Amino acid sequence: MLRNCRRPWLSLGSLRGIRCVTRRAPSLRREAGELVKPTTAGCVLPCRAAVAWEAGKPLVIEQVEVAPPQAMEVRMKVKYTSLCHTDLYFWEAKGQTPLFPRIFGHEAAGVVESVGEGVSDLAVGDHVLPVFTGECGECRHCQSEESNMCDLLRINTERGVMLSDGKTRFSINGSPINHFLGTSTFSEYTVVHAGCLAKINPLAPLDKVCILSCGISTGLGATLNVAKPKQGSSVAIFGLGAVGLAAAEGARIAGASRIIGVDLNPNRFEEAKKFGVTEFINPKDHDRPVEQVIAEMTNGGVDRSVECTGNINAMISAFECVHDGWGVAVLVGVPSKDAVFMTKPINVLNERTLKGTFFGNYKPRSDLPSVVDMYMNKKLELDKFITHRLPFSDINKAFDLMVKGESLRCIISMED
Ligand SMILES: NC(=O)c1ccc[n+]([C@@H]2O[C@H](COP(=O)([O-])OP(=O)(O)OC[C@H]3O[C@@H](n4cnc5c(N)ncnc54)[C@H](O)[C@@H]3O)[C@@H](O)[C@H]2O)c1
Ligand SMILES: [Zn+2]
Ligand SMILES: [Zn+2]
Repeated sequence: MLRNCRRPWLSLGSLRGIRCVTRRAPSLRREAGELVKPTTAGCVLPCRAAVAWEAGKPLVIEQVEVAPPQAMEVRMKVKYTSLCHTDLYFWEAKGQTPLFPRIFGHEAAGVVESVGEGVSDLAVGDHVLPVFTGECGECRHCQSEESNMCDLLRINTERGVMLSDGKTRFSINGSPINHFLGTSTFSEYTVVHAGCLAKINPLAPLDKVCILSCGISTGLGATLNVAKPKQGSSVAIFGLGAVGLAAAEGARIAGASRIIGVDLNPNRFEEAKKFGVTEFINPKDHDRPVEQVIAEMTNGGVDRSVECTGNINAMISAFECVHDGWGVAVLVGVPSKDAVFMTKPINVLNERTLKGTFFGNYKPRSDLPSVVDMYMNKKLELDKFITHRLPFSDINKAFDLMVKGESLRCIISMED
């Protein structure tokens, strides 16, 4: 049954294990002499998912049942997923509220398998990227050009259920398994609110553009949409993981002349050159605060800084290293829930600006298709972010690689 659910429409034999709750069991039929693929819409689908049962313990590939999508929901077949540091924080649950058992994963690409009632702009077969923060299209934020903080679908790290009925769509032997960020992409099938899915160019290779579903769009947008460096300016990037390197890529595209990369992991520095980083600082190499080192290098501070570490001290340094008068610092890293940001108010009086962003201020449904097109038009390179590829059965190796700081993005293929 475990294997059968993986391609439910391939043969009648493969339909075993699918329970249909709202319609008759799927069967092959003929229309005008042609054999028509059976639909699995309305059925409970058994499939493989990587379940986190406990904080910090390896995920276990289990057979889960995925309920059909309810009103305004979509069930998608996940084709590729990758690991972002936010998955790691909530799996480790050190500085975050623990919620287990849970299916993590939020950076992915896939295909619509079925849609719930009321979903009119997505159809079976559409290629989609799920996003951890959504766009209902109607609230004040969705109506505002300045915000992507949708009232209905904005990121909620503590919710493990679907909005419409407060229940999960995942279960094992009838026991519910929690969702994560409304996406839970470490599963062959997942149910997502339609407002959290961006429909993309069907020609885009899903095994590459999946990384646009979180990290790369976030870093890119943090620079292009929020920090907005001017041509010839200096930009400091804290944290040279995939998000930080995407922020560096944004600075390069914006025409920054100096891009200063800051990271505690010296192995990042060589890689960062490919992303236009021109100078490097490892805070461990200095006996004075990194903001002081940067002020000395730049005659008073950088024009812009983008923090992509999640570390509170790096966040404070990112603000303290910008220039008086015009400096803008943008926080991107997800802090631990008890972290408190402290700085001297005089820094603000001295006309510096502190900002933060989720998903690089992109509106997921409206803006993400054009970020995919930036890749298709060769304005944005994605290959250099992809350092590893693994089959789904080896997902725990992807966690190890990120914990050790050895990977930027590891693409996990759900069909292997
Ligand atoms: N705001 C958003 O919408 C959003 C979206 C995606 C990811 N994130 C967050 O962005 C951050 C980066 O994600 P990632 O996937 O690139 O992670 P990553 O683990 O690949 O990279 C983080 C890098 O930061 C470095 N680092 C850690 N502490 C540091 C410090 N004190 N000073 C300098 N460097 C330090 C690490 O060595 C590492 O190279 C995470 O906090 C993640 O949760 C935020
Ligand atoms: Zn992410
Ligand atoms: Zn909205």
